[in-house]
Amino acid sequence: MIRAGQHLVLVGMMGVGKSTVARVLADRLGRAVYDTDHVIEAQTGRSVRDIFAADGEVAFRALETEVLRSGLASEEPLVIAGAGGVVLAEENRALLRDARARVVWLCADPATTLLERVRNGTHRPLLDDDPAGTLQRMFTQREAMYRDVADAIVLVDHRSVSEVVEAVLR
Ligand code: S3P
Repeated sequence: MIRAGQHLVLVGMMGVGKSTVARVLADRLGRAVYDTDHVIEAQTGRSVRDIFAADGEVAFRALETEVLRSGLASEEPLVIAGAGGVVLAEENRALLRDARARVVWLCADPATTLLERVRNGTHRPLLDDDPAGTLQRMFTQREAMYRDVADAIVLVDHRSVSEVVEAVLR
């Protein structure tokens, strides 16, 4: 259960549905959505893909940390959709662990659910080559990191958006 003053934060791999689920949750809870990729794009006026291509991943990750930090610092309780790589930095994991927030890991099978869902969307330069292999490697690398920050885990394989939303709110 989410408490009144707490942020609700969704973490999980690319393609798991964080942005979609966050929008529905925000409607349900009467809160604003704070989607870290979208905030980066709005603040810089550039796309995630362009930042990766022109400035590199390290620069993108630095922006991501600052955007996560400001979202978590908001007085107003938000629904925060953290991009897939938000758990990579120990600094970000500490922010998530220490925040006044309930962190939910949306978890899905990389070989089936995630692979199917990443087919649409253009903001994922890391998946340009070999999406199946990359998703599997990323999942292996990040699984323990998602687990480390999560207060709850919701499995999304074979579940609709509304079923996932209900599970997150439970
Ligand atoms: C990334 C996830 C993407 C985006 C970038 C890198 C990652 O966000 O930030 O392509 O490293 O997992 P979504 O999880 O919203 O797709």
